[in-house]
Amino acid sequence: MTRLVFPDVRYQNSFIAAMEEFQAEGRQTDLSLRQLEQHFPEFIARLRDTHHPPPDSGLVPETLYWAVDDREYIGHISLRHRLNPSLERYGGHIGYEVRPSRRREGHGTRMLALLLPHARRLGLQRVLITCSEDNIGSRKIIQTNGGQLQDIIQNEFQDVPTMRWWIDL
Ligand SMILES: CC(C)(COP(=O)(O)OP(=O)(O)OC[C@H]1O[C@@H](n2cnc3c(N)ncnc32)[C@H](O)[C@@H]1OP(=O)(O)O)[C@@H](O)C(=O)NCCC(=O)NCCS
Repeated sequence: MTRLVFPDVRYQNSFIAAMEEFQAEGRQTDLSLRQLEQHFPEFIARLRDTHHPPPDSGLVPETLYWAVDDREYIGHISLRHRLNPSLERYGGHIGYEVRPSRRREGHGTRMLALLLPHARRLGLQRVLITCSEDNIGSRKIIQTNGGQLQDIIQNEFQDVPTMRWWIDL
């Protein structure tokens, strides 16, 4: 059964295998897997230390969770504690990815369901989630979790329009 945990060195092997899968489809291409293998504990420490970004970084505080199944990494989901003008147009409060070999097993839907109570505990009353209009899987994940469509906007840096959804907590 999928559960959310904080990034942890014990998932190193399956995490790196998942990154190979993501890279094969053109995602996470800025990660050097060789570097990752050599410096995994430092990498994990950075992932866990996103609550207090430097004031001039433009980043908002964020909590990253990994979805795991027994001892295997399945995907990640992050919760941004607040919005900024850029996230209001693209990104929203929550972003997620499921590793290619574990898609269409219901993990994306469950990851979002598991994350919403964390958002509520943080004091948020509703969360914004955005997805590209052609991302059927993500649309269904959001709708299954109670998403209400606000609007569909065109961001200049993207070919496909962006859907903005709110989930009341
Ligand atoms: C989008 C994504 C998170 C879906 O994860 P997932 O674990 O496969 O999702 P689920 O198994 O919970 O599927 C949810 C629903 O969408 C459907 N679905 C999933 N992927 C689909 C696809 N490519 N085409 C059509 N339907 C799809 C599922 O059949 C399921 O339908 P149901 O609710 O009627 O049963 C995953 O494909 C992914 O990581 N993609 C790349 C990153 C990304 O797009 N992230 C989201 C950014 S907004």
